[in-house]
Amino acid sequence: MFVTFEGVDGSGKTTQVELLAAELRAAGRDVVVTREPGGTPLGEAVRELLLGGATISPWAEAALFAAARAELVETVIAPALERGAWVVCDRYLDSSLAYQGLARGLGAEEVLELNLRVTGGLLPDRTFVLLVDAGESERRVGPDGDRIEREGGSFRERVAAAYSALAERFPDRIVALDGRRPVDDVARAVRENLGAHV
Ligand code: TYD
Repeated sequence: MFVTFEGVDGSGKTTQVELLAAELRAAGRDVVVTREPGGTPLGEAVRELLLGGATISPWAEAALFAAARAELVETVIAPALERGAWVVCDRYLDSSLAYQGLARGLGAEEVLELNLRVTGGLLPDRTFVLLVDAGESERRVGPDGDRIEREGGSFRERVAAAYSALAERFPDRIVALDGRRPVDDVARAVRENLGAHV
């Protein structure tokens, strides 16, 4: 199974990635945990470029996220899935659809097309989107985020709205959960959704 977690900054996805991985390991599963952008030497270098100070034009930004993702799929995710492991990823292509496609306005279709091309069409089996609104995200992250987190109020609102839109658009793959609920409640909902697979 290839499972991804998505949401605005401060939605609690990283905590849920760790809880699911621990649960799967306790059940004796082979689990690979990874994150985006990053997860490979190239990906970490691209992460520095993306989240550092410099301004990056919108398609260059989308292409850099896609380059890091291509490397991660080729060298980490696909080999793990081939040997039958679980892969749990903190962000994947839905982040590009939400941030670059919808919030920056490049177009969800166009960004999806780029990402399907560079990943060989690899979509997650299940994606959990943790929904929190822009105000809650800002309260949790504080003023000192990375370059993308510093975008300010209306960008955050567009990203939050984008995730709700994506959940409606891909109902078979994406499960939307209320990220304001207690951590254990969200973890239980994830487990119940994966049910028999675990
Ligand atoms: P993340 O690693 O979740 O941030 P942190 O670890 O600092 O909490 O993500 C870094 C930022 O990159 C985040 O603001 C979302 C953004 N991002 C995109 O805009 N597009 C993408 O495709 C990905 C993977 C992340």
